[in-house]
Amino acid sequence: MTLNPLTDHASRRIGAALLFVAATLLGLPTAKAATPQDLLTGYNTQAGTPALAARGQAFFTAKHGKEWSCSTCHGDVPTQVGRHASTAKPIGALAPAFNAERFTDPTKVEKWFRRNCNDVVGRECGASEKADVMTWLLTLKP
Ligand code: HEC
Repeated sequence: MTLNPLTDHASRRIGAALLFVAATLLGLPTAKAATPQDLLTGYNTQAGTPALAARGQAFFTAKHGKEWSCSTCHGDVPTQVGRHASTAKPIGALAPAFNAERFTDPTKVEKWFRRNCNDVVGRECGASEKADVMTWLLTLKP
């Protein structure tokens, strides 16, 4: 008997979907922990063009037609605790070498990129912008 590739593909997708639902119902974490390098690799693949640290730094420190830059809350060189522009709450260092929790939870990273890019740029950041910023952040070492 030859396997019908279409049916085979479809049943695998259904299987994966059922596993996902089962995991969710059991309360198992469905998002895997990641490293900053994993996330950067993902953004680079999506962007399809090489990331540039200098472009990331320029993007991070510049205003984009609105009141704030990324630096306003995270600091010009985000290796230290920053301060929220409106609430003054401290924000832990954003550079992974200074804060081991950074860029390890893809859901959190995407949530904050979405929120902060909307505040600063007035739209979501593209994969290439995220890759540039991350590439720069990863050059910051103690
Ligand atoms: C109004 C203040 C503010 C501005 C402006 C801001 N951020 Fe943030 N950012 C935060 C806060 C608050 C958090 C979440 C608290 C935390 O993680 O310490 C955060 C978290 C993040 C995270 C999550 C990282 C992780 O893995 O924990 C990323 C990525 C990020 N910001 C990138 C940016 C970028 C890029 C810009 C500019 C486009 C920017 N932020 C501008 C306040 C700000």
